[in-house]
Amino acid sequence: MPKQKLFFPKDFLWGASTSGHQTEGNNTNSDWWAFEHSQRREAVLKAAGKNIPDYQSGIACDSYNRYDEDFALAQHLNHNATRIGIEWARIEPEEGKFSEKELAHYEKVLQSAKFHGLQTFVTLHHYTLPKWLADKGGFLNPASVGLFARYVSAVSRRLNQYTDFWLTINEPEVYATHSYLLGRYPPKKKSLFKTLKVVNNLVDAHNQAAKILKFETGKPVSMAYQLSDLEPSGFFSHFTHFLAEYLANEYIINRTIGTCDFIGVNYYIHHHIGFWGIRKHSHSKHEQNDLGWGIHPDGLERLLVNLKKHNKPIYITENGIADSKDIKREKFIKDHLYHVHCAIQKGVDVRGYLYWSLIDNFEWLHGFWPRFGLVEIDREDLLRRKVRYSALKYAEICRTNCLEVDASQVHNI
Ligand code: FCB
Repeated sequence: MPKQKLFFPKDFLWGASTSGHQTEGNNTNSDWWAFEHSQRREAVLKAAGKNIPDYQSGIACDSYNRYDEDFALAQHLNHNATRIGIEWARIEPEEGKFSEKELAHYEKVLQSAKFHGLQTFVTLHHYTLPKWLADKGGFLNPASVGLFARYVSAVSRRLNQYTDFWLTINEPEVYATHSYLLGRYPPKKKSLFKTLKVVNNLVDAHNQAAKILKFETGKPVSMAYQLSDLEPSGFFSHFTHFLAEYLANEYIINRTIGTCDFIGVNYYIHHHIGFWGIRKHSHSKHEQNDLGWGIHPDGLERLLVNLKKHNKPIYITENGIADSKDIKREKFIKDHLYHVHCAIQKGVDVRGYLYWSLIDNFEWLHGFWPRFGLVEIDREDLLRRKVRYSALKYAEICRTNCLEVDASQVHNI
C-alpha cells in the first residue's frame, strides 16, 4: 500500500500532559482530598458496591517522588515537551503562608524536565483548590481573583527560569459547570447563578494572572480551554446549536483571548445538539473510548480552523483516549494528528501536540480504572511504569516529526 509522509512544521512540540492531583499523590491540603474522604462520598461509593480506595487519589502515581523517572520515560519516547500541573494547595497550605519546601520541590521537578530535554508547560490551577480557599467559597468568592494573583506571583518569580509556557486555569468551562451547575465535582453545587459568578471570577482571575505572568516572566500565557465539537442534529436545532457553540466554546475565549499569547486546546468531546439542547456524547455508530466518549478526530480540525480568526499560535494541550487494552490508542493518535495536519495545511498555526496522558492516573470521579496513559501504571506491582505499544508508535512520530499514512486513506479518515 503506497504511503504518504505528512511532515509537521519545524520545531513542532511533541509530548504528553499530566496534572498534579492526578499523578503526584497525597495532595492532602486540597478540597478534592477532603471530598474524596468525606463521609458522604464514601457512603455513595459503598452503596454502589465500589472499593473506596479505588476512588481516592491516595498515592496516585507517586509522581511527587518519581517525577525524574517519568520525565526520563518521556525523553526515551522522543518527547520534546511536557505539561505538568503544580498544586496551589501544597504551595500555600495555609492562607498567606507560602511553603519554601514545596516551591523548592517544584523547582527540582522542572529542573528535571529540562535535564531530560523537555520544554515545559506549567498549569497553575487544574480543578483543585487549597482547602482553606474552598472553605471561603473558592472561585465563587470574588476575593479568589486577588488570592490567585498573589499565588501566581509567588510561583512565577520562583519557577520562571524553568518554565516555557504558562497555563493559568485548566478548562474553566468544565470546572464551572461540573462544580457549580451539575453538582459533580466539589463543592457539588447546582445553581446557574453560581456558575455564572464562578465563570466571571475565573475570567477575571485569568486576565489578572496573565498580566502578572507577562510582566514578571515575559513567557507566553494561555488558559487550557476545553473546546467541544458541536453538531446540529435534526430540525430546528440551528438556534440551540448556535447558542451552545457560543456558551461552550466562544464566551470564555472571547473574554480572555486578549491576555493570551497562544491558545491551549483540550479536545475530547463531540456533542449532538438537538432542539432541546445537548443530546449525548455521540451517535452509537461512532467508535467510543472505555468511558463511552465518542471518537471524532475530524472535530479537532473543525475546531482548529474555527480558531484561526484569533490569529494566535495554538498548542493542543490535551487530547487522549481511555483504552485499557491499548487497541484503539495508536489509531486515535494518528487520526487526530492527521486532522491537525489538515488544519495546518489550511493555514492554522498549530505548534504542538500534548497527548493526555503520559501515565495512567486518577481520573477524578471515575477513580483509577480509566486508562489514558501512554505508559501503564501497574497498581498491583508497586506502580511500575510499563510502556504501551501505542506509546512506541507515537514515539516514532515524535522522532521523525512526521505522520505516515496510507495514501488511499488520506481523505477517508
Ligand atoms: C480533561 C481534564 C484532565 C483529564 C482528562 C481525561 O478534561 O483536564 O484532567 O481528566 O479530561
